[in-house]
Amino acid sequence: PANIRVLSGIQPTGTFHLGNYLGALRTWKQLVEYVNPANSPEPITRSRLLFSIVDMHSITVRQDPDMLRASVLESAAAMIACGVDPSRSVLFQQSAVSGHAELAWILSCSTPLGWLRQMHQFKSKSEAQKEGTSLGLLSYPVLMAADVLLYRSTHVPVGEDQLQHLELTRDIANHFHSLTTQQSVFQIPTIVYSEATRVMSLRDAAVKMSKSDPLEASRILLTDSVDVIDQKIRKAKTDSIPGISADPARAEVMNLLTMYAALSNESIASVAKQFADSGHAAFKRSLAEVIQATVVPIGNEISRLKKDEEYLRQVMELGAEEARTIAHQTLLDAKRAVGL
Ligand code: ADP
Ligand code: NA
Repeated sequence: PANIRVLSGIQPTGTFHLGNYLGALRTWKQLVEYVNPANSPEPITRSRLLFSIVDMHSITVRQDPDMLRASVLESAAAMIACGVDPSRSVLFQQSAVSGHAELAWILSCSTPLGWLRQMHQFKSKSEAQKEGTSLGLLSYPVLMAADVLLYRSTHVPVGEDQLQHLELTRDIANHFHSLTTQQSVFQIPTIVYSEATRVMSLRDAAVKMSKSDPLEASRILLTDSVDVIDQKIRKAKTDSIPGISADPARAEVMNLLTMYAALSNESIASVAKQFADSGHAAFKRSLAEVIQATVVPIGNEISRLKKDEEYLRQVMELGAEEARTIAHQTLLDAKRAVGL
């Protein structure tokens, strides 16, 4: 993997959950292993992998300032606890690198407004906001484009939810080039669509497990204790059909099977076969154990790291410095292209 640069981001808006782990953090750990293997004789190039805690995205929705600040630290702790090794990747806080905001402004001056109005997420979120929609909610995808383009990222892994925004990122970069005489300010990133595991809410299998769900019983937090995990899984919604089967019509059971299979590295079909004759309660007890085996050690590591605030700040400051260095040339080129 020479000459590659991958950027990924996560919002620090609350404690990470099992969906974040299976859909993002676990994949990031694998990416670190793949790009900068722990026991490789080759020198490590940290700058191939950038992991950003995108706090500027979080403020498109109003946040409690103290909670957001605490969340940034906890996010760093959780990322490290999940295996995103800061000695083999660049872990940083978005707002610590002013280039994101600068480039976002430059790009916002060349991006047609109509493109942003068409984004699914803007349409659904602006409809949901009663007190008026902010400019930031509309221009959020331009900030995201800046995040990616600032580092001349070659590959950006995305799930279904961000696919449209990444396509827009490519359009924004190409459009910028078409308006100037400079054709190589940005690297046009390859979108790596990941079929990462998608985990649904424990209380409603029609919606995804999410930090923003007010019902905490809907998700397994990476910091949940053994007892809390037992309780949440015991109360997880199922149906009244006896036994366990991998039937797409049984959304709740499918969701539990998906978690089990992902955590035990088995196929859904094989897990379903093992539990075909089990009652729901017995299956849930086994599932809780499988979840605990992964989540509890991560949770312990998160709480250990959270106590070492100095270390976390040091990691993020080092990451921000490295990110600024990488961003510097792109920003110069973008400014030059428009006359700044
Ligand atoms: P949330 O919706 O919980 O606030 P984010 O939107 O910040 O999560 O997403 C952070 C990362 O976690 C993204 O890569 C996203 O694809 C992944 N992710 C979030 N929720 C889930 C889920 N329920 N299942 C799988 N992956 C998820
Ligand atoms: Na979200």
